[in-house]
Amino acid sequence: MKDQTDTLLHPEVTGFFDPATNTISYVVKDPGSNACAIVDSVMDIDYAAGRISYDHADEIIAFVRQNDLSVDWLIETHVHADHLSAAPYIQAQLGGKLGIGAKITVVQDTFGKVFNEGTEFQRDGSQFDRLFEDGDTYEVGGMTCRAIHTPGHTPACMTHVMGDAAFVGDTLFMPDGGSARADFPGGDAGELFDSIQKVLALPDETRLFMCHDYGPGGREILWETSVAEEKAHNIHVGGGKTKEEFVKFRTERDAGLEMPKLIIPSLQVNMRAGELPPADADGKRFLKVPINTL
Ligand SMILES: [Fe+2]
Repeated sequence: MKDQTDTLLHPEVTGFFDPATNTISYVVKDPGSNACAIVDSVMDIDYAAGRISYDHADEIIAFVRQNDLSVDWLIETHVHADHLSAAPYIQAQLGGKLGIGAKITVVQDTFGKVFNEGTEFQRDGSQFDRLFEDGDTYEVGGMTCRAIHTPGHTPACMTHVMGDAAFVGDTLFMPDGGSARADFPGGDAGELFDSIQKVLALPDETRLFMCHDYGPGGREILWETSVAEEKAHNIHVGGGKTKEEFVKFRTERDAGLEMPKLIIPSLQVNMRAGELPPADADGKRFLKVPINTL
């Protein structure tokens, strides 16, 4: 049987940093064609003003057009709680299929209740073109890519392996950033530890691309590291830390964290695959703020 993924391929990866949310979006180009995937795009929001815009997404669209790329896939590593996805906006202009982890249904069920969504909000993942199960493969041009289920931060988190590159979402941060919180509904620090081990089981030289970087200690923003670097130096899981040590640390740390600034709009939009809630009879769209629920 052929190896599931083309781990010897070296796709060209271009990162687009969004300073408003410290998110990095990626364009990943198949080395053998002009096909590409776009990972974790960002819609701009001025939450105080209730205003959305698409400057960040337009930058990616311009890059794709300038380089004459064709979009095979728009990948969401998970339902983000700190930024809004621009996937449908980009898809409308560039095409491609939109994919997320199959456990999106769990996230939709949880937050469908939190936001008291009516029956018109489908909780079956049908807003997406593809729901990835653990180990599923898909093609970007001639490159066979693989989705690995890496829950813990959220139930639907996936790591996407494309050639010698892996997009870890919020499973890991840069070595000096550690790991993401595991205290959202459906999150689990023990599961996160196990998922991180799956990422660290990839070949040592695998390039790892982060979804976020906050420049700890005032260093410049970085988003690329490797499995070897994370194994040796990650401050939360590197150097052979045990699961017990990690779970204790993560749980204590999470207890002191505030909610992300954009969690309320992010969840309502991202659980709909990046679409805004439906318009009311006057054609106006609203986001809800559940009181004393999150
Ligand atoms: Fe996240």
